[in-house]
Amino acid sequence: MRTQVGIIGSGPSGLLLARLLHLQGIDTVILESRSREYVASRVRAGVIEQGMADLLREAKAGERMDREGLIHEGINIAFDGRLERIDFPKHTNGKVVMVYGQTEITYDLMKAHIDEAGGIVHYEAPAIRVEGYDTESPRIIYEQNGDQKELVCDFVAGCDGFHGVARKSVPADEIKTFERTYPFGWLGILSDVPPVKEELIYANHERGFALCSMRSHTRSRYYVQCAIDDKVENWTDDAFWDELGRRLPPETAENVTTGPRLEMSITPLHSFVAEPLRFGRLFLAGDAGHIVPPTGAKGLNLAASDIYYLSRALITYYKEKRTDLLDRYSESALRRVWKAIRFSWWYTSQDKL
Ligand code: FAD
Ligand code: PHB
Repeated sequence: MRTQVGIIGSGPSGLLLARLLHLQGIDTVILESRSREYVASRVRAGVIEQGMADLLREAKAGERMDREGLIHEGINIAFDGRLERIDFPKHTNGKVVMVYGQTEITYDLMKAHIDEAGGIVHYEAPAIRVEGYDTESPRIIYEQNGDQKELVCDFVAGCDGFHGVARKSVPADEIKTFERTYPFGWLGILSDVPPVKEELIYANHERGFALCSMRSHTRSRYYVQCAIDDKVENWTDDAFWDELGRRLPPETAENVTTGPRLEMSITPLHSFVAEPLRFGRLFLAGDAGHIVPPTGAKGLNLAASDIYYLSRALITYYKEKRTDLLDRYSESALRRVWKAIRFSWWYTSQDKL
């Protein structure tokens, strides 16, 4: 099989790249190790910044987001029993954020790219490795229905998340990595209850951090910081709600509506950067190249920023035969990554708040 841009991973990075390239007449094939249903139901990010919202509109996948997403003009910070609001437009020349779930974004991109435009995504087809990325015809070796196959491409985009194979296909001496593992995780619950407040609350408390977020006016997402080795099985719904209440100012805690979980999961907190993000004709984008702790709500937004640079670089190559943007991809993307890594670390460090 042959394509122009072979994409490993059908998370938001891979789907958004495929969609933007498709709109410019560039062929892609996505290889995804999981099933479509699994990818569509993964509960993750909830807050997207203006740059990503604009890119989704450019990808013609932003209609439902504009209809159903909640525009937030600020966040609340709780500490010492107090609640203080930070006004975004006032401090950022009018910028706001959109609360719209990653599951919804993934659904919208799948619908636009696969169901409506006929884009090719092979599900349950894990990539095993990338070969010949320093030649003009890199290849992705992958598995499908028990057979080993090969996808020959002009370029390979490694959008396969932190545990993917794209980054691991590069010899260790060609890649520099920077890493920090935090000694705790976040236990998250999704529940069909109205949010406690109309905007997010980030709470600093001696028992640990807590976050009140949402997906809609009727669906809430809450997190409490937990031990790194804690397990979901250790938590009943009641235990979660009790712990959340203890970490919020009393008058906020009183207003929390509790309910049964739709989902509960633990996310370890981790910062990671790979340098560079380009190896010949192999490009890393999104979580495949960098991870931030979720505190700053930057991970998905950084993935979109990578895809902004990478899509423009590939489009310029195919339309004008120019390679300068491809050559600058790693540097441009990493400039923003390092700022987000620093912000997310700072915002996660309790002693700095
Ligand atoms: P992924 O979503 O990880 O997608 C990678 C895909 O590649 C997956 O579908 C995987 O199955 C596939 N894959 C892996 N290996 C292979 C292989 N060998 N072959 C083929 N396919 C493969 N970010 C924000 O901006 N705002 C937030 O509010 C926010 N909140 C978060 C809350 C939580 C609890 C978590 C866990 C994350 C949060 N993030 C947030 C981060 C955000 O979810 C990620 O940064 C985002 O998913 C990155 O997208 P991606 O497409 O690069 O990677
Ligand atoms: C979420 O809604 O899942 C969310 C919101 C803000 C964050 C992290 C996660 O900082």
